[in-house]
Amino acid sequence: MSRLVVVSNRTADLRKPAAGGLAVALGESLQQRGGVWFGWSGKILEDVDGQPAPEGKVNFQRAGKVTLATVDLGRADYDAYYAGYSNDVLWPVFHYRLDLANFDTRFAAGYRRVNQLFARKLLPMLKPDDLIWVHDYHLIPLAAELRALGCTNRIGFFLHVPMPPPLIMAAIPEHEWLMRSLFAFDVVGFQSRADLLHFSHYVESEAGAEVLGDGRFRAYGRTTHAGAFPIGMDVDDFLRLAEAKEGREMFERMRDEYSRRQLLLGVDRLDYSKGLPQRIHAFRELLAQYPENRNRATLIQIASPSREDVEAYGDIRRQMDSLCGAINGDYGELDWMPIRYIHRNIARKRLPGLYRASRVALVTPLRDGMNLVAKEFIAAQDPADPGMLVLSRFAGAAEQLKDALLVNPYDTQGTAQAIQRALTMPLEERRNRHANLLRSIREQNIHWWTRSFLDALAGAQK
Ligand code: ADP
Ligand code: F6P
Repeated sequence: MSRLVVVSNRTADLRKPAAGGLAVALGESLQQRGGVWFGWSGKILEDVDGQPAPEGKVNFQRAGKVTLATVDLGRADYDAYYAGYSNDVLWPVFHYRLDLANFDTRFAAGYRRVNQLFARKLLPMLKPDDLIWVHDYHLIPLAAELRALGCTNRIGFFLHVPMPPPLIMAAIPEHEWLMRSLFAFDVVGFQSRADLLHFSHYVESEAGAEVLGDGRFRAYGRTTHAGAFPIGMDVDDFLRLAEAKEGREMFERMRDEYSRRQLLLGVDRLDYSKGLPQRIHAFRELLAQYPENRNRATLIQIASPSREDVEAYGDIRRQMDSLCGAINGDYGELDWMPIRYIHRNIARKRLPGLYRASRVALVTPLRDGMNLVAKEFIAAQDPADPGMLVLSRFAGAAEQLKDALLVNPYDTQGTAQAIQRALTMPLEERRNRHANLLRSIREQNIHWWTRSFLDALAGAQK
């Protein structure tokens, strides 16, 4: 079996819990298979006396069956490539937020520079039959840069975030270069059929692509395979976590504390794509329209700090502070607060217990590639008395999780009604829906995802 080389912007210390779907999913699959994980070290080399620090060497670390190989980034590169082009251009545009994009021309140059640096550093580590699997929007040009250095390995790409429709994509000044770069990969994977459709619409309408069948597209003088591979989770591993000491303790603590109340839960990175202000508005509407929930329903919203050096993330933080403060001020009682808002990461081993103690999960992004929280919540439930998932139709997960209560998060009233329905749903209906949801996340789990992508990559015609 060919060795696997995974490349992503962020690698993770595999001994520590990680927030972020990519880090969690890759950590699990690489540990099982073994291989190399290459990416940014997370360290920024500051300028010295106004001069950029010299390019760093690759650092190697062994963690179980995985070799982590990482490079540091200079301050200017980090600012332009990560904070700039990745998170101030591609992230907002790919999440349909053209209003938040900052098309500063210096960002694109830094993005290309770092992709070239990654290609230069990675090339000497490669063996001829390695399968290379590149992840996410930070590294779209990486295969093209590797090919320019003579690399002939099979290279696959998986986009964890949504692929926008062509007219939104076309707002990025470098859109043609980005799409052309995708054709240097042998396989391009998306989270959902909707994303795949947007890709095919773009390449057909903007590049006159030929659709060759079997998921093959020919454009820009090259052929690539494109497909939908919805990312899954390791259900059994998560259940083991739920059964472990911290998982059980967390569950018992929360169950006892909320024995006379209904617990609703949100767990997200603090990101404007997650629809957090809209969720708070819907919860407020629930208290206004269905007063029986006052003094009874509590929403715990955990939002881990994320990308704080990008302006839009500061704005969302201020917005959440003020919305949560207002609702607690307006509805709170001496012995009950409607919202517990926690601006922190919580340890992964405590998550399953928290999910299991919750009657309803609110997963209501305005746009999301997949959303693994939705799947984790389902996995953690007690099948005999499961909680209910309220899920945005704009999360990639909605294509698979049809038995959740699907909502339009922009529709405050409709979302409040769905939350009320979830809170009052009869046991039998909850059990039936949960059984279907659990089946779906078990069938297309993390092992299925890795296997189907790597099979497609290994089998792709060169
Ligand atoms: P994204 O990749 O955009 O962050 P996902 O929902 O796909 O969104 O993945 C989030 C992952 O990070 C999940 O595994 C979730 O459990 C974890 N996570 C998200 N927010 C937190 C938090 N506040 N504390 C702990 N873990 C979190
Ligand atoms: O899943 C999308 C994603 O952007 C991952 O690529 C990333 O690791 C995660 O969210 C967290 O974001 P960041 O790496 O920017 O902190």
